[in-house]
Amino acid sequence: MYDRFAAVAEAAAREAGNLIRERIGQAREVGEKTSKVDLVTEVDKQSESVIRTELLAAFPEHKILGEEGVAPGSQASAEALSKALSAEYLWIVDPIDGTTNFVHGYPGCTVSIALAHRGEVIVGVIYDPLRDEMFTARRNAGAYRNGQRISVSKEYDLQVSLLATGFPGDRGWARDVNMRGIAALSPLCRNIRAAGSAALHLAYVACGRLSGFWEIDLNAWDLAAGSLLVQEAGGEVTDTEGDPYTLEVRHIVATNGHIHDDLIRVLKQADGTGF
Ligand code: IPD
Ligand code: CA
Ligand code: CA
Repeated sequence: MYDRFAAVAEAAAREAGNLIRERIGQAREVGEKTSKVDLVTEVDKQSESVIRTELLAAFPEHKILGEEGVAPGSQASAEALSKALSAEYLWIVDPIDGTTNFVHGYPGCTVSIALAHRGEVIVGVIYDPLRDEMFTARRNAGAYRNGQRISVSKEYDLQVSLLATGFPGDRGWARDVNMRGIAALSPLCRNIRAAGSAALHLAYVACGRLSGFWEIDLNAWDLAAGSLLVQEAGGEVTDTEGDPYTLEVRHIVATNGHIHDDLIRVLKQADGTGF
């Protein structure tokens, strides 16, 4: 059954990805959600609608939590998730992760689709339409890129690690917390990237292009699919204090496992965990 879930999610992600590829840099309606840095376009909505239609056609009894069906802001997201968590099967959808990139025509937009069974993620799909890379994980069955098994990187030391983070939509406390983490980690690692899509960063940790990723104040749809990819690729995913990943986690650390404790230790010392 997991294979069927994954196949339907991949087909939906591909269809939504085609829209992104055709329209990147050409959005007509660019709306602001909570601020000038929190954007939504007509393509985010079309992408979500395509995905909903595909998922419900295959699994009419399943529930869907999609970003564009939820009011903007951290609190509304957390509330929508807590209501949805009672569903037996819950799809968690980010129809474009990297909308700012999409608006500016900067490559780095993904579709992220996860399926949770009684609150545990069992399938995760992240599609990068611009590079035509499909990342797929099924619980206890490994992680794949375009059908090839992937695994996390081997760096044991922060000094030789390539990390990534993101700049949270929240321009207040979350940004300050993140800047403290960046200031503390950048002298200790090889370098830091911020490509503008949390899902892409997680997929890159899973396939070994990044050693680790952290970010403050993300939503379930940014993280659900990517968290399973990293776990199934042999990595580790927790919150920024080291507690196990659940759908409710908003402050994330995902790594190859080897550098996990060191990364969290530095964030704690820098008051960069968000807690
Ligand atoms: C955003 C991206 C970005 C991250 C932001 C997210 P969106 O998602 O994942 O990398 O830094 O915090 O909100 O709005 O493009 O779906
Ligand atoms: Ca997102
Ligand atoms: Ca989005």
